[in-house]
Amino acid sequence: MTDGKTKTYGLLGNPVEHTLSPAIHNTLAEMLGINMTYLPFLVDKDRVGEAVRGAYALHMPGLNVTVPYKSEVIPYLAETDPVARRIGAVNTLVRTDGGYKGYNTDMPGLYRAMKSDGVKIEGERVIVLGAGGAARAVAALLEEKGAEEILILNRTLERAEGIAEDINAFAGKKMAKALPLDAAGRLPERKYLAIQTTNVGLHPRDEDVLITDEAFYRCVHTGYDLIFNPVRTGFMRLVEEHGGKAYNGLKMLLYQGIIAFELWNALQIPEKTACRVYETLLTLSGGTEEARECGI
Ligand code: ATR
Repeated sequence: MTDGKTKTYGLLGNPVEHTLSPAIHNTLAEMLGINMTYLPFLVDKDRVGEAVRGAYALHMPGLNVTVPYKSEVIPYLAETDPVARRIGAVNTLVRTDGGYKGYNTDMPGLYRAMKSDGVKIEGERVIVLGAGGAARAVAALLEEKGAEEILILNRTLERAEGIAEDINAFAGKKMAKALPLDAAGRLPERKYLAIQTTNVGLHPRDEDVLITDEAFYRCVHTGYDLIFNPVRTGFMRLVEEHGGKAYNGLKMLLYQGIIAFELWNALQIPEKTACRVYETLLTLSGGTEEARECGI
């Protein structure tokens, strides 16, 4: 029950009405008996600074930040964690003396999701589809976790080139390469892990796919789509139809929330608890089948 000691957390974004984050945090709080509540806050364009200052003035211990403010929020923070700085995006704020400290839990969230799904990065040849903010974070994770090669495919080649250059400079070797989308059908007959970071295929355009060329899907042993609505995207369907394994972004969403919750409350969430929250998310997002094989 909400009382005088309830701590308020929330999400800053625009839009926010379809967010699953309140379900993650309020379920965790209830399961762990923590007196907190988590609410969505719609923030108008150009008012992110005011929102952050207002939240601080209201003694809010932590916030999440979502699209389109993950980069825009950075100047309003007292400090930014090195991982968040590297990828230029913050999705979690933790209250400190003098202001909020910004973190990025999307990247470690994806890593924990992949580990839970048994998807390995080290030594893998990986294709990143897209070159937006999400792709930049994914590419940094792949470099950090020892991918052998990163191919970044994007409609606008210059954006892919920008990410590849940054990765290569950071790694001190040429491991990332930018390619246009039509290169997807001309890949060498090798097996790749492919991570789909664009919003192509997002509900309501469930059947849209970034790449239609079947030759591409024959080269993919595992496909990871960051989209979780629908729970099975067109990309996932095509990967599976060509014999690969496919995963959606729901576990990444789960773990980015869990890592934020861990930062706010200075604790570790047991995997059993994570699994229960995942089942809640699956029910809310319309998928129930996979709940049985949660396997976390
Ligand atoms: P995010 O921060 O979520 O990654 P973003 O920065 O807007 O979002 O990036 C969106 C990505 O989806 C980009 O790679 C974009 O390609 P461009 O760089 O060419 O714009 C890609 N994308 C979105 N809609 C697309 C479409 N219809 N066809 C091809 N690529 C698309």
